[in-house]
Amino acid sequence: MAQQVIDRPVFDYMQAYVTCTVISALEKLGALDQLAEHGVVPAELGYEEFLGEATFRYLAERGIVRQEGNRYVLTKSGRHLYDERGYLLWLAGGYGEALNSLDGLLSRKQTFGTEVDRDVRWVAVGSALVGEADLRAEVMEILGGIEFTTIGDIGCGNGHFLIDLCRATDAKGVGFDISPAACAEATQEVERAGFGDRIDIVQVDATDVDSVPHLENIDLVMAFFFMHEVLELGHDVLVDYLTRTCERLPAGAYVLTTEVAPPTQSEDTAEAFGPEYVYTQALMSQRLMNAEQWSAAFTEAGFQVERIVEGRLPGSRLILVRKPLA
Ligand SMILES: C[S@@+](CC[C@H](N)C(=O)[O-])C[C@H]1O[C@@H](n2cnc3c(N)ncnc32)[C@H](O)[C@@H]1O
Repeated sequence: MAQQVIDRPVFDYMQAYVTCTVISALEKLGALDQLAEHGVVPAELGYEEFLGEATFRYLAERGIVRQEGNRYVLTKSGRHLYDERGYLLWLAGGYGEALNSLDGLLSRKQTFGTEVDRDVRWVAVGSALVGEADLRAEVMEILGGIEFTTIGDIGCGNGHFLIDLCRATDAKGVGFDISPAACAEATQEVERAGFGDRIDIVQVDATDVDSVPHLENIDLVMAFFFMHEVLELGHDVLVDYLTRTCERLPAGAYVLTTEVAPPTQSEDTAEAFGPEYVYTQALMSQRLMNAEQWSAAFTEAGFQVERIVEGRLPGSRLILVRKPLA
């Protein structure tokens, strides 16, 4: 008997919520890479038995995996989801607990940053996966057109992008991050990649430019999904921050930054990612700016805007600016 197709979007929301949570959890546990490489046998993962079986059965029911004997492997659509898993990890792993406490935050019974917080580790790991899938090609194209020897990655997270770029370009690198956990993970990843002699990781609050070491020797600053942390402190603070950064960098140095622009429509927007991104940033009272506003802030700070490139990540803009040569 043919299955009845039910056109009731409420069930799509349920499916999306559970799928997002399951994929994020399996990525945190390291099971998705195994699943992608050679499939998994749930009983061999050491998970709680009943729930482990139920998890993969659920994914099979939703067409993400299929069973081959006692092993589950990714289907074609499961593989697409695997390639884009960074978005789900970023959302459910990074912001899941905070979103689950939304009632407490809205009613002021809880405060973000004290009782409730995002999980910066999974925000950073998710964002690195997103960058790899949806920004790398554009970044490589931009970097192919400029010359540099030392990359400074502000808000480097787990360091994957920095390692990738140093590998691809022969540059040296310094990664800066405020999170001790991110720095520990980045240091470990740098060692694992064999780049211990080319990349340093420094734990620092990079919103305080004067405490960021080595800027005088860095000719390419990367700041991906970081600058809005400074904008959160106020537009004037952002312009001062960029001005001071510009002063400290050598003449001709580049800054490449990526941010997501707020949706252009306020009602019933069809944008793929913008509204969800803007909403999660609102948990931290962070506002976002569009590429023109970022360009204006960089220009006011003394940089010249070289290029603005649309990323594959919906709503993203890569903005390349340069400190004038003279
Ligand atoms: C969204 S993640 C982006 C990670 C990485 N740039 C990427 O694109 O994948 C933001 C990173 O900025 C770091 N961060 C936030 N505030 C910071 C600050 N004040 N100083 C340095 N790093 C900061 C966080 O710890 C996190 O690793």
